[in-house]
Amino acid sequence: MFLVVTAVVATLAIVYSIASSIATYRKLAHIPGPKWAAWTDFWLVRHCFSGRISLKLQEVNSQYGDLARVGPNWVVCGDPGEMRRIWAARSNYKRAYWYRGLRMDLNRDSTFSTLDEKVHSSLRSRMLPGYGGKDVDGLHEAIDDRVAAFVKLLEDKYLSGNPTESGLSYRTVDFARKVQFFTLDVISMLAFGDAFGCLEADEDVSRYIEVTELMLPYTSTLAVLPWLVDLLQSPFLHLWLPNVQNMVGYGKVMSLAKKAVSARYGEKPVVKRDMLGSFVKHGLSRDEAEGEALTQILAGSDTTATAIRATLLYITSNPKVYARLQREIDEGVRAGRISSPISDAEARRFPYLQAVIREGLRMWPPATGLLPKVSMTDDVICGIRVPAGTSVAWSAWSILRSKAVFGEDASQFRPERWLDAPPEQLRVMEQTAMLGFAGGSRYECLGKSVAMIELNKVFVELLRRFDIVLVDPTQPWKYHNVIIFVQSDMHVRITRREEAVKA
Ligand code: HEM
Repeated sequence: MFLVVTAVVATLAIVYSIASSIATYRKLAHIPGPKWAAWTDFWLVRHCFSGRISLKLQEVNSQYGDLARVGPNWVVCGDPGEMRRIWAARSNYKRAYWYRGLRMDLNRDSTFSTLDEKVHSSLRSRMLPGYGGKDVDGLHEAIDDRVAAFVKLLEDKYLSGNPTESGLSYRTVDFARKVQFFTLDVISMLAFGDAFGCLEADEDVSRYIEVTELMLPYTSTLAVLPWLVDLLQSPFLHLWLPNVQNMVGYGKVMSLAKKAVSARYGEKPVVKRDMLGSFVKHGLSRDEAEGEALTQILAGSDTTATAIRATLLYITSNPKVYARLQREIDEGVRAGRISSPISDAEARRFPYLQAVIREGLRMWPPATGLLPKVSMTDDVICGIRVPAGTSVAWSAWSILRSKAVFGEDASQFRPERWLDAPPEQLRVMEQTAMLGFAGGSRYECLGKSVAMIELNKVFVELLRRFDIVLVDPTQPWKYHNVIIFVQSDMHVRITRREEAVKA
C-alpha cells in the first residue's frame, strides 16, 4: 500500500512539474531566444557563473533582437529607450526577486536588497543629501588626500627608471589591485571618517577584496534562482551559514561600521558634517546606518575601480587619445587652469578629459548585473507583449554600444564622438551613457557624484606626472563579470615624465 501511495504521489509530482514547465514555457513562447533558456534557468546560471554574462547577453540581443528570452521567466532588453521607460520614476515596474539574493547580512535588507519600493524610496531620500555631498564638509579634501596617497604609493614603490637614467630598476605594478586600494580607501574614509589604509599598507588590510572576489561569483549566480535564495536565507540555514558580522573581510568592515555608528547615537552623540552625520540627521536608525555601511563599500569601491582601470586601459592602448589627453592636461597646468591637485570644478572645464571619462564609462560599464525589474501588469517592450511578472533584465553591453545611439563605430573607444555629435544626438548619447549609473530618480546610483569626483581627479593627477604603459598589451588584464567586475593582473610600467609640467 505504502509503495502504491508513494508511486502515485511521485507520478503526480512529475506530471505537475511537467505541466507547470510547459505552462511557463508557453507564457513567453512568442519571444525569441536561445532554445534551452526557454526551458531552464540553468542557461542563465551557466553564463552568470562563467564571468562573461555581459558579453553573452549582447550576443543574444544581436542574434535574437532587442528583446530576447533568456530564462523560463526572464527576458533581456538591449534597447536604451525601453530601459529608461522601465526604470523611470512612475513606471509600473518594481525590483524583481533577484535583488533579495544580494542581501549580504541575512538579518536585514539594505537599499540594494530591499524589494519594498516604499522602504527603498524612503531610504534613498534620507541618504541622498549625504551621498550628494550637500551636508558633507571635506568630501573633496578627503578624495584629494587619497589621490595623494595613491600617487605616493606609486612614486615610492613602483616607479621604473627612464631608459636614459642608470641605476633605477625596472618595475611593474598590478594597477588593477592598487587602484582598488585607492577606491576602498576613499569610500571607507567617506563612510567611516577613517580610511582602511590600504594605500599606506599597500595591502588589502581588511581582507575585503579577498572575500569579495571569493563570494561574488556565487552570489551573482544564485540570485537568479529564487527558490535557492529562499532556501539559503531561511531561518533554519541562518544557524549554519557564516554570519556576515563574523566573516573574515566583511566582519572587519561591519565592526568598523558599528564603531563609527555607535559614536553618533546614544546619550552623548558625536555630531559631524560627514556622510554618516547626514544619514543620522535625516533620520536613519542606528540599525539602518550599520546596514548601509557594507552596501556603501560594496557599491562604491569595485565599480569606481573598474571605471578607472578600463578607462586607463583604453587610454594606454590608443596613442592618439593618450597624446591628446596629456596635451590638454599639460596646457591646462601651464595656463594655471589646473591646481595641484586638480579640483572637480576645474576638471569639468576640460572637454577632452570629460569625453575620455564618458567614453570609458560607456565602453566598459562597471555595473553590469542583470538588475531585473518586474511589472505587475502586462507590457509591450520593443513591440513584443511581455506578461506581468516576467523578470526584465538589461543588457549593459548592448545598450551602451548601441549603433543607433552612438554611431556605426559604437564598439570603438573614440572620445571625439562626445565633442563632434550634434546637440540632439549628444543629448540622447548622454541619457543613454548615464544608464550605466541606472538613471532615473528611482534607481539611479546614489554615489554617482562621488564616483565622478574621483574620476575627474585621478587621471589628471596620474598623467601629469607619469607615463604609463601596459607590460603585455596582448594580455592586458584578467576579469570576471559578477554583477560588478573582479579584475586583476593589469600589469603596467610607470615612469616619471621627463617633461612633466609643474603647476
Ligand atoms: C563608476 C562608478 C559607479 C557605477 C558605474 C555605479 C553604478 C550603479 C548602478 C548601475 C546602480 C543601480 C543598481 C540597481 O539597480 O539597484 C548603483 C546603485 C548604487 N550605487 Fe553606484 N555606481 C558607481 C559608484 C558608486 C559609488 C562611488 C558609490 C558610493 C559612494 C555608489 C553607491 C551606490 C548605492 C548606495 C546604490 C544603491 C542605490 C539604490 O539602491 O537605490 N556607487 N550604482
